[in-house]
Amino acid sequence: MEMNKRPRRLRRSAGIRNLVQETRVDIADLVYPLFVVHGENIKKEITALPGQYHFSVDRLIEEVSQVVNLGIQAIILFGIPAKKDERGSEAYAMDGIVQQAIREVKKHYPDLVVISDVCLCQYTDHGHCGLIKDHEVLNDESLDLIANTALSHAMAGVDIVAPSDMMDGRVAAIRQVLDKNNFSHIPIMSYSVKFASGFYGPFRSAAKSSPQFGDRKTYQMDPANGREALREAALDIEEGADILMVKPALAYLDIIHQLKTTYNMPLAAYHVSGEYTMVKMAAKEGLIDGEKVMVEILTSIKRAGADMILTYFAKDMAEWIRRNTL
Ligand code: PBG
Repeated sequence: MEMNKRPRRLRRSAGIRNLVQETRVDIADLVYPLFVVHGENIKKEITALPGQYHFSVDRLIEEVSQVVNLGIQAIILFGIPAKKDERGSEAYAMDGIVQQAIREVKKHYPDLVVISDVCLCQYTDHGHCGLIKDHEVLNDESLDLIANTALSHAMAGVDIVAPSDMMDGRVAAIRQVLDKNNFSHIPIMSYSVKFASGFYGPFRSAAKSSPQFGDRKTYQMDPANGREALREAALDIEEGADILMVKPALAYLDIIHQLKTTYNMPLAAYHVSGEYTMVKMAAKEGLIDGEKVMVEILTSIKRAGADMILTYFAKDMAEWIRRNTL
């Protein structure tokens, strides 16, 4: 047998494999999502997201200290309001739960990058990401509220705002309001390509944000569409987005790759709640090695082109990286 090309030569030992390894997830790539609730001394596990918790602001600080000690440099905050109304008032209230959390976290950890999810769905009683009239989600009328939400986060000291509502024109609306109020230095990480996905199930149960009628298909994208993803990204770039995001991640690696190769923009991928819970549950049943699958999935997201990954696995992955770094 004459064979001068033998790929297995480079797989012979861990040392050689490490030398030729093309993709590594860094702790610096990870963004850890955290849920914050009103009250005191609350740390309550979220049934739908095993290993993730609802924290009151005081207990959040304790959690953030662990996150920081692991070397994680960024978190994204989600709030669960005390009460919801038609206009999602607590989303843009100066003393809303996320605004309080931002202030407190930045006070204790000024160097930690605090990102805030900007949306109305957790805060509206109908559970949609914009204002409603005659069962329609209004676009332009919602933009002010969304931009004001971003502004209230900036005023609380957030480092990056991340709009996830998928209204048309929201990046431009946020940019304009931030700039007018002396926050031209605050970047926008836009959920540019957000699909109407079944993978958000556990998040909606954690954030109590399921739409009370209909679904999100009139604003979130059809999972079948790749070219439309490029159009959405192009619009966000034009409107002034600083970082693009694809969400979910694993079922959309082709989209991540296309965005990365098409645009010279920093790219985030959100490995969402359902993706996380599936791994956790299958591992719990002994059907897969959860840690191995976690590393494999997060590496594939990075390989596809993501510069950063928002993931509920951030702490587990950081621990794994620490254990496996020479
Ligand atoms: C709010 C928002 C959602 C997620 C992030 N921001 C839910 C949704 O669109 O219903 C989902 C995150 C996850 O599933 O982990 N619009």
